[in-house]
Amino acid sequence: EADLESKLPLKGKKILITAGPTYEAIDPVRFIGNHSSGKMGFDIANEAANLGAEVVLVSGPTHYKAKNASIKVVNVISAQDMYEACHEYFNDVDAAIAAAAVADYRPKEVALQKIKKNAAEFSIELEKTKDILSSLGAIKKNQFLVGFALETENEIENAKLKIQKKNLDLIVLNSLQDEGAGFKKETNKVTFIDKDFKIEPMELKAKEFVAQDILNKVILHFSKL
Ligand code: CTP
Ligand code: CA
Repeated sequence: EADLESKLPLKGKKILITAGPTYEAIDPVRFIGNHSSGKMGFDIANEAANLGAEVVLVSGPTHYKAKNASIKVVNVISAQDMYEACHEYFNDVDAAIAAAAVADYRPKEVALQKIKKNAAEFSIELEKTKDILSSLGAIKKNQFLVGFALETENEIENAKLKIQKKNLDLIVLNSLQDEGAGFKKETNKVTFIDKDFKIEPMELKAKEFVAQDILNKVILHFSKL
């Protein structure tokens, strides 16, 4: 019994995870998206479930399938869909990990018909999407809230600002600098920064192992409660 518990350190914990890109419609056949594969979020979800957690995975469009049948997958398309799905579950969870690459902007208006190539020039007016993670940070109670940060300059400073602005407990800073890290890759090189601004650079490793490192932080947090 005790042995089983030590192998399932997240048993009894509910975790909300976001994954993948979001697609923001331009017209019925086109969208604005990004190259996120969803792998990081799915790896975190699978690992969390293997560690005994009850997982809700809110995912944008991706070809990944959850490996662990216990994972509740909520498929969404747009940032607004993802926002609504996350708020449906957030009050009920012990931790949330935002690995999704949410679109920052969406077309202000979605054309009802396919846009024809009549004009020589064409532009689309964009408006900001809701920041899902910030909105969760603003209402969080005891939830351990983990965000990601993708930066190309002043990485540490910008990541620290995100911790404060979004009321996070931990941020996972992605280094695009590194050859083996980021979108469409099997590996990732991250740096952890906690809410006390303690900085912990990690080695380049397979995303599965990055997922384990992140969940170790979650487990450590619960162990201190
Ligand atoms: N995020 C979110 N909702 C958004 C945008 C981002 O929940 N509309 C989350 C991401 O899932 C990630 C974190 O916020 O965990 C940081 O995303 P990132 O793109 O690095 O930062 P932004 O806050 O969007 O700021 P910017 O892109 O200007 O650096
Ligand atoms: Ca962004």
